[in-house]
Order: sequence, then structure tokens, then C-alpha cells
Amino acid sequence: MAIFLPDEFVERVRSESDLVSVVSSYVQLKRRGNRYWGCCPFHQEDTPSFSLKPDEGFFYCFGCHAGGNVFKFISLIENISYYDAIVLQAERLNIPLPEREKTPQEIARDKKLAALREVHELAGKFFHNCLTVTPYGKAGLEYFHNRGIGDDIIKEFNLGFAPDAWSKLTDAFAKRGLDTELLLESGLVVKRQQGNGEYDRFRNRAMIPIMDERGRVCGFGGRIISDGQPKYLNSPETMLFNKRRLLFGLDKAHRHISQAGFSLVVEGYMDVISVYAAGIKNVVASLGTAFTVEQCKKLLRYAPAIYFCYDSDRAGQEAIARALGIAGETNAEIKVVQLPDGKDPDEFIRKHGVDEFRQVIGQAISVVEFQLKHILAHSDINGLEGRLRALTEMLPVLGSIKNTAERSAYISKVAQLLSVSENDILVELTKKGNGFSHQPRDNSKVRDVVHQVDDASRRAGRVIIRMVWNEPAIVEHFVSLVPIESLPEAIHKQILTVLYDKYRAGEQVTDIMSLSSLGEDVVAELSRALVEDLGQEDISLLYEACVRQLRRSYLVSQYKVHSENAERLRQQGDAKYMEELAISQKIKQEMDELQSVD
Ligand code: UTP
Ligand code: MN
Repeated sequence: MAIFLPDEFVERVRSESDLVSVVSSYVQLKRRGNRYWGCCPFHQEDTPSFSLKPDEGFFYCFGCHAGGNVFKFISLIENISYYDAIVLQAERLNIPLPEREKTPQEIARDKKLAALREVHELAGKFFHNCLTVTPYGKAGLEYFHNRGIGDDIIKEFNLGFAPDAWSKLTDAFAKRGLDTELLLESGLVVKRQQGNGEYDRFRNRAMIPIMDERGRVCGFGGRIISDGQPKYLNSPETMLFNKRRLLFGLDKAHRHISQAGFSLVVEGYMDVISVYAAGIKNVVASLGTAFTVEQCKKLLRYAPAIYFCYDSDRAGQEAIARALGIAGETNAEIKVVQLPDGKDPDEFIRKHGVDEFRQVIGQAISVVEFQLKHILAHSDINGLEGRLRALTEMLPVLGSIKNTAERSAYISKVAQLLSVSENDILVELTKKGNGFSHQPRDNSKVRDVVHQVDDASRRAGRVIIRMVWNEPAIVEHFVSLVPIESLPEAIHKQILTVLYDKYRAGEQVTDIMSLSSLGEDVVAELSRALVEDLGQEDISLLYEACVRQLRRSYLVSQYKVHSENAERLRQQGDAKYMEELAISQKIKQEMDELQSVD
């Protein structure tokens, strides 16, 4: 349970934090004027669009629109919650956390968690030691080396070996005074069926520790080193080991995922290790279970795209089909990497090398293409009946393609493939109506719309926000000329509404994250407003120009309303139309006056 952090505490940590030095430990920054620039750590780029202004205390990336204060930065780069970022920064600055009484249950739970973490940490070291230092590890070392896994990777992944004996770990840990109940709960130790005592779960296996995204050992996968079953023995579910949430390799991959712009999801532990060792580091695997929505969302925190590269055998392809169904429920941009031969990425790389593997990644296909291929692969299209069955399965896929040109192209491809007429497919498609199972998502377009061209009004909106932030009292003047609801940007309306409400309530806002409940977009836009170059020395002139800009667009909309009202009333023979006309003329006049100022 998190303790409550009072505002004064958060404010103290924030004011003692030096944004430039925090960011500099992750990003190389160059100073230009009163601002620093660097290559954004949250997306792939070669020319710096990541900017921060130390005196304002905010960063903003003009490329990917990430933005916020020092805590936001830490939470993004360390992949921790905003809350944890405050705590982490407080620890770094040696600021003691405020105390709060915990309930006995919380204390017990915290203790158990900490103890379990310690046991796993120790077990990781134990197995690694067995592998690299003790004679028990010989068979394990041979196994890894035979698979082309060198000592550097053994070290980096903290790989290990469980000795070929019944109770090496149990005995060693008992000697250290570790509690038996705790060891049983960790799953590393199992109770004997007959008689007293316990024995090791993992024996004579090559050990792969599974870390959470912060690099803490949560469980293990143990691979048998000869033939036998099961091939991999995994830790049971514990307070730490949640297979639905964890992704193998994420602790090392997450920064590379942000940089590459996509995550590469493979099936096996060994695939992750091989692919990573070959230099493609944005790679993770789900833990022997189906890919889950939780895992998908976790990956989307680092990059919008996910590439699946599963084994090229039938089971692997079926698994991809299921994973696509899961990922399709989120707004992930999905692609499928197809291995031409060789069973899995590990084998492929060993056989063909990493360059060829990169090429294969480059040729990743879309979900539609994969689905059509997948249907084709398990259909017999020699007979008419089989072709029709395949077509029935393909219809929802075709129907899911929103882009008309793309859809026509696929329809004609399918028509050729199944020797049916394009027209028949079209007829069938319209018959099907909207009952398609796969909803298309064209994220790139949505994003284009969101990040539309920056027009003058948007910029003016940001300038006003910046000024109100620095000098809350001017909001009164601003709203007397431009009603907040008339602003062209919905996000600016949200921000100014909060600032205005706080101003009227006599509250001062100093932390942009106090607006975080309005969403990430709001925080990012606010950060942008606060770091953006104003490009104008005279603040009052700039303010007037921005108010004019926004008032003009307000007037334009008002003019439209009133002149349309006038016209409608006139047609209805209602004499009140004269009033509306007068109003609209007055607006028109002010519009003309404003025009003449600029
Ligand atoms: P694979 O059998 O494809 O694994 O299973 P792999 O990594 O290619 O195995 P190697 O190369 O023969 O060593 C994929 C994943 O499914 C889980 C593991 O996470 C494995 O990496 N799995 C597989 C198990 O949990 N238990 C098993 O018995 C088999
Ligand atoms: Mn394999």
C-alpha cells in the first residue's frame, strides 16, 4: 500500500529537483539560450526535438508530444508510476518519506513481499553461482555453450543452473536461516509427499530468471538439459509471479522498445536470449501462456507498435492468430513477422544470421495479410466447396479493411486466388452487413488528425494558457473577451476551465500534474505551452495579439449564429429578425476593426 504524500512533501521534492541534471543522466542535452535540447528518449529520432526549460521545470518533445515535469519524466523513463517517481526522486535526494501508520495487514503483506523478493534474489544468485563457479554447473555451462550462449550473455541474463540433486537449494537456504514456509510459498521448495521434509523444485535444469520490468527476480523457468518432460518447468503463481502480467526480457528491452518504436514479441525464453544477444534488444516473450491484454497494454506504454514473431510451425501460427485477437482489442499497431524456414527466431538467427533476421522483420506483414494467409494455409482450395469455405472465412477479414483502395486490392487478390468473381465477393460482403469480427484500426490516421498542423489559434491558445499559468489574474480579463467554450481546441478549454475555476476558488496551481486527472494529453499540452518559445519579447503585445486571434475566431462563430438566425426569422416573417441582424452587424463591425489592427 502506498502511503499518502502530502502536497508540501511533493512540492519540496519537486523544488529540490534539478530537471536538467535528472534528464542529463538519461539524455545528452545541449544548451541553446535559456533552453536545453536533446534527442527524445521516448521515440526514435536523430535530430533533437526534445526540449526543456530549467526555470519552468518542464520538458516537452515536439516530435512525440511527451511532456510534463520532472516526476513525469522519471515515471516515463523508468517505467514506474507517477507516485513511485516522486518516491524514487525523494530517495535520490535523501528526503525522508512522510510517515503514516499502516494497518497490520499492510505491514504483513509488505513484509511477505519483501521476503519473497529477497528469496528470489538469493535464488537467482544461487543458481548463477552453481552455473558459473561450482562443479555442479558443468553440465549447464556445456548446455548453454552448445546453444551458442556465451559467458557475457549468461552474466547479462543472470542465467543459472539447478544442481542434479534433491535438496541443494533447500539445504543451503535452511542453513541461511530462511523460513521454510516462505520457501514453500516461493515455489522454489516443495513438500515431500511421503515423510517429512522438503526438496528442490528445480533440479538438473538450466535456469532462466524471470524479472519484472524493474529488473527484480519474480520467478524462474528451468529448461531440461536432455530430452524429457516437461521441457520447461516454471515457478508456480505467487505474489510475485503473475504470468499474465510479466513479460520475459522486458527489464532489458523497455528502453530499446521506446527507441525502436515497436516491441518484438517472440514465443520462447531462448528466442529472447538469442535475438537480444544478436543485438536486437527490443524483444520480449510471454511466459509460455497465451499473450494477454495486460501484457499488450504494458508494451504499449513504450511504443505503439507490436510485431509478433512466433514459431513458423502450425502451433506458432495458431498462437499468433490468438494473439492478434487479443492485441486487436487494444489500439496497438500490429504486424506479423514471418520466418520463411527454421522453426523459431533462435534457430533462424543461428542458421541465417542476424542481418537476414532484420530483413525478415523489415518484411513484416499486416494483420489482414496474415489472416488471409492463415485461412489459406488451412484450407483446401482445390475443390469448389473448400474455396467457398475459405471465402466465408475471409469475408470478415475483407470487411474489416476500412481503406477503400486497400480493400479493393485485397478483394481482387482473393478473387483471383479462389477463382471467384470480384463482384460476387462484393455482394457477399454487403450481405454480411456489419457483422464483422475484426474491427480495423488505422492508428496512423487517427494520430495525424490529433497532431494536425499547428495553426495560429492553437498557438494563441497555448500562449494564453502560459500567461494565465504565470499570472492567474489575467484569466478574468481573457474570459471577458473570449468565452472559454469558444476556444477552437477542446484540450485548451479543459485546461483553462480548470485554471479559471482554481483562480476563482482562490487556489494557486503550481504543479502541472494536478491536472493529470484530465489525461496525458492535457499534461503534455500544458507542458508544451510552458516550454514553447514565445518568439516575442513584449509580453503585453503578445497577449493582445493572441486575444485578438482568439476573439476573432469567437466572433466568426457568433456572426454565423446570428446571421443565420436573422435569415431564418426573416423567412418565417418574424419581425425579431431585425434584432438578430443588428447583433450580427455589430459583430461584423468588430471583426472589421480587429482586421484593421493586424
Ligand atoms: P518452445 O518449446 O517453443 O520454447 O516453447 P523454446 O524457447 O523454443 O525452447 P527451446 O529452444 O527448445 O529451448 C515456448 C515457450 O513456452 C513455454 C516456455 O516459456 C517456452 O520458452 N514452455 C514451453 C513452458 O513453459 N513449458 C514447456 O514445457 C514448454
Ligand atoms: Mn527454440
